[in-house]
Amino acid sequence: MKRYKVAIIGTGGIAKIHADALKTLSDRAELVACVDIDKERVEQFASAYGISQSFTDAAEMLETVKPDLVHICTPPNLHAELSIMAVKAGAWALTEKPLCASLAELDAIQKAEEETGNYVSSVFQHRFGPGAAHLYRLIQEQAMGRPLVGLCNTTWYRNEAYYAVPWRGKWSTELGGPTMGHGIHQIDLFLWLMGDWEEVRAMAATIARNIEVEDVSMALVRFANGAMGSIVNSVLSPREESYLRFDFEKATVELSHLYGYGPDNWKYTAGELADPEEFRRWSAVPSQKYGGHTAQIAALLDSMDKGERPLVSGHEARRTLEFLTALYKAAFTGRPVRRGEIQPGDPFYEVIHGGYGKPGQKVGALS
Ligand SMILES: NC(=O)c1ccc[n+]([C@@H]2O[C@H](COP(=O)([O-])OP(=O)(O)OC[C@H]3O[C@@H](n4cnc5c(N)ncnc54)[C@H](O)[C@@H]3O)[C@@H](O)[C@H]2O)c1
Repeated sequence: MKRYKVAIIGTGGIAKIHADALKTLSDRAELVACVDIDKERVEQFASAYGISQSFTDAAEMLETVKPDLVHICTPPNLHAELSIMAVKAGAWALTEKPLCASLAELDAIQKAEEETGNYVSSVFQHRFGPGAAHLYRLIQEQAMGRPLVGLCNTTWYRNEAYYAVPWRGKWSTELGGPTMGHGIHQIDLFLWLMGDWEEVRAMAATIARNIEVEDVSMALVRFANGAMGSIVNSVLSPREESYLRFDFEKATVELSHLYGYGPDNWKYTAGELADPEEFRRWSAVPSQKYGGHTAQIAALLDSMDKGERPLVSGHEARRTLEFLTALYKAAFTGRPVRRGEIQPGDPFYEVIHGGYGKPGQKVGALS
């Protein structure tokens, strides 16, 4: 196993989670450099984590350090540009969510991947807990029968102080509200498990916070396998919860937690068609060595060792971003949106709000 040289760009809140995860995985990866436009912050970060080199310019760091892997932890509007810079400088990129601002940007990332042979992977740490991998395998085996009904609720709470950070709450920098920024984790996991989506109908609006982006959205989804699902994304919910529910022909599977889950957060309930012996196997959720970012980074290092495309990249990243774009299009146009219909030339291909999001204005208000 190779020990990789890693750099972090953006040393704010989430960068600490990345640095802690890299410390846990220090036999496989060494955090050798960090970058932030805020000199004092980057120097403090370097000293807290014993990182030998700090920079205030990403291009200079890439040129000087030539890292194998770059973690991009800046505000969302910079993700695509920095991811493309990283792969062009010879590194793989692990980019915080949301990976990019639009399907147009995703196509640019994919072009850079093709030109360089390096991959850009999106942080979706919820996919990497063993409980999710266990359920994915059961679904591939059709152990519990077809999925029929799914619920995906991200009911969180963010106050005005949270939105006082300048990049938050704006289409140009946060790129969206709880759909794009908070529910995105569960939506990604939900879509991966339920199978390919076909059609979405939705509503989204700014109903309480003083922000441009939506503070609540709701969607109904039809899947290619015939299943139906509903999705709620909110930052207005005082009792916070992340909740997924899957009703298969023979059993119901639920996941309830807040920002990270372990084996105990999963609940399997047998239906009348379940064989008790089989049910014991289904409901035996494996224990986990790592969770969260550490689990995803460990899996990414495995992909680097093998030179293989990492799980949440390419087609897998597109499924979720195309869905989010379709959700906004359905909400803002009031029409159902089918998978594949948002192509170059469609206003929603270029910008995720399709021109409906305006600086300083709320969205979705009743006229
Ligand atoms: N996966 C998760 O669970 C999770 C949780 C929280 C945040 N995030 C994501 O992480 C990202 C960062 O969020 P945060 O809360 O850490 O934000 P933050 O504002 O705390 O940190 C961002 C940092 O990036 C720096 N920065 C800005 N422009 C830069 C540039 N051009 N080059 C280098 N550094 C630059 C800022 O100075 C700041 O220090 C966001 O995309 C957010 O959605 C993910």
